[in-house]
Amino acid sequence: MRILVTGGAGFIGSNFVIENARRPGVNITVLDALTYAGSPASLSSVSDQVSLVVGDIADARLVHDLVSKCDAVVHFAAESHNDNSLADPSPFVQTNIVGTYTLLEAVRAYGVRYHHVSTDEVFGDLELDDPAKFTEHTAYNPSSPYSSTKAASDMLVRAWARSFGVRATLSNCSNNYGPYQHIEKFIPRQITNILTGVRPKLYGAGRNVRDWIHVDDHNSAVWRILDSGEIGRTYLIGADGELDNLSVIRMILELMGRDPHDFDHVTDRAGHDLRYAIDSSTLRDELGWHPRYTNFREGLQATIDWYRDNHGWWENDKDAVEARYQAQGA
Ligand code: NAD
Ligand code: TYD
Repeated sequence: MRILVTGGAGFIGSNFVIENARRPGVNITVLDALTYAGSPASLSSVSDQVSLVVGDIADARLVHDLVSKCDAVVHFAAESHNDNSLADPSPFVQTNIVGTYTLLEAVRAYGVRYHHVSTDEVFGDLELDDPAKFTEHTAYNPSSPYSSTKAASDMLVRAWARSFGVRATLSNCSNNYGPYQHIEKFIPRQITNILTGVRPKLYGAGRNVRDWIHVDDHNSAVWRILDSGEIGRTYLIGADGELDNLSVIRMILELMGRDPHDFDHVTDRAGHDLRYAIDSSTLRDELGWHPRYTNFREGLQATIDWYRDNHGWWENDKDAVEARYQAQGA
């Protein structure tokens, strides 16, 4: 099977490529624009097995050429950070909506199987005490420019599947953690802050809850859906990992041998979603998927060890990322 992986030099995409590049009978091409969030270094361990095409998913000519030569597209490429979308929504509209449209037109033209990687943030947020979690039937209610452009892209996929018979599946996953995540994101930002002598930064009071899943578990679910998912269906991916941000920041400090109170409260994010929580029972019951990382503390320790052992992967970006946050009071 020839698979085109968009965004394969980003966090989740690179882990997906590393995990699947050596599968017998699988041949992977990565299409990635190498924005600030993409790094060819993330693919260095599989550079002999994988070809990397540097280009934009909204470049119709390039996309048609690549799609015409593959059997399946797994679409990870996106502008992915909420804080950036509040500062400038425009690349989010372009990549997440126009880019997805461009891919859909290509898979329609060549009859290629398509898997769309999306987020639970399309559903908006839940109250802290809401007994319900997000399911496949939860109405979309996105809060930020990021989540609204991801919601729009999901809607395009549903329409192209229904109206044009595109052989598509969708997945909406909760917050990922693990190696190769950009240091602008919550967990790697705090780990690399501690490693560079900067105090971790907590937005607001830290009551916001995220449903953490290890990136390898997200990707094993994506593979399972690509392989055995029902065409036209949406699957929710989650590992029952709900934790508030205050608990996560304290756990990071503790695992790194610091005082758990040694962090700063900084300006809260505008429109900050309170809680996400995923009910993944359909994926578990129908496709037999189960997460491997059921102990968040162990997964977090392994992630801390990875950032400690791979300074070279992130240290050149660190000052610029923190300068950008500082300018926002965060
Ligand atoms: P990321 O920002 O780390 O990586 C995105 C990649 O896409 C980068 O390599 C970047 O260079 C590339 N890219 C951006 N614009 C492009 C364009 N126009 N053309 C080609 N390539 C382009 O993101 P991530 O965290 O790995 O997220 C991957 C996907 O998973 C996204 O669709 C995101 O919405 C979704 N998702 C992420 C999470 C999470 O916790 N990170 C959770 C659920 C779903
Ligand atoms: P983030 O990693 O940006 O993911 P998302 O916005 O998709 O949930 O943020 C995770 C949570 O951590 C979110 O509630 C915002 C919070 N946060 C902080 O408290 N401090 C930080 O420095 C960052 C980047 C995020």
